[in-house]
Amino acid sequence: MEPVIEVRSVYKSFKGVHAVNGVDLEISGGGFTALLGPNGAGKTTLVEMIEGIQKPDRGEILINGMQWKGNEESLRHIIGLSLQETRFIDKLSVREILRLFASFFDLGKKRVSEILELVGLESKSRSWVGNLSGGQRQRLALGIALLNSPKVLLLDEPTTGLDPNARREIWSILLDLKKRAETSLVLTTHYMEEAEKLCDHIMIMDRGEVLREGGLDQLLAEDEREKIIEFTLDAPGLPKDAIAGDAPFPIEWDSSNGKGRVALDNIETQMPVFFDFLRHKNLHMKNMECRKKTLDDLFTEMTGRRLHE
Ligand SMILES: Nc1ncnc2c1ncn2[C@@H]1O[C@H](COP(=O)(O)OP(=O)(O)O)[C@@H](O)[C@H]1O
Ligand SMILES: [Mg+2]
Repeated sequence: MEPVIEVRSVYKSFKGVHAVNGVDLEISGGGFTALLGPNGAGKTTLVEMIEGIQKPDRGEILINGMQWKGNEESLRHIIGLSLQETRFIDKLSVREILRLFASFFDLGKKRVSEILELVGLESKSRSWVGNLSGGQRQRLALGIALLNSPKVLLLDEPTTGLDPNARREIWSILLDLKKRAETSLVLTTHYMEEAEKLCDHIMIMDRGEVLREGGLDQLLAEDEREKIIEFTLDAPGLPKDAIAGDAPFPIEWDSSNGKGRVALDNIETQMPVFFDFLRHKNLHMKNMECRKKTLDDLFTEMTGRRLHE
């Protein structure tokens, strides 16, 4: 399938900060793609270059085979976007804001009503935008992005800062959109659940680079057997060396709270070894949990940091 977005060797710096440092990517039509990375990874800079809001220092970006230069008019018609922070005029009603944006695309009242329904804001159509909750504002921003039935939708952190309910409402709107399969979505997020739940393709970004990409299963497949054991010992304050120094497996240890973490690829044979080791050290387990590896674990392995830090 023809790629809808192609990014070739794109660089962008701000006063010595390499915000986007040589990114290549290709996004094909119809799918949902996540740019997953912590704060400062370069996600906003990258999507804003795709949106034509910022210019790359170097490299090339094609949307539907077109560059921004010379094709602004046609590209504006196939792209819908919402920025990381959206400021609206507070003293306009939800319907008035939608009508205003609809007028830019020569769309009428009918489309505004469809959008109000799509993003679940019918009951708020007469409310002032300034009185909306965070979740309602984000749904309005999403509604605006969807007005012109874009072929490509770009959303920058659509659910950051929202409570779990509001986040699920946005997810459900996006999942409905996915079922219709008419729109390609690229969203940025630092929530791995969001990337997992919505997207078929995930690009993990950090420090201006794409570190790894693929489907969720594909990203985690290499370590399919690996399980994460998180445990608490009755030993707060125990220095890291005292436990990790001669451990049979690499152990992450936080002496401030007595919590540790170890990755095992065969729990059946390795757990007994781990328990023997603890007994030998006279350390007592207060608590433990065994779970599957997540994208956050993968990110930590690649960078030494967690997504939320
Ligand atoms: N306009 C700007 N001026 C200076 N530095 C910037 C600017 N925009 C982004 N940066 C820097 O570039 C890096 C990437 O930022 P950004 O693209 O906003 O990341 P993210 O969206 O992943 O949080 C950060 O170090 C940020 O401080
Ligand atoms: Mg950002």
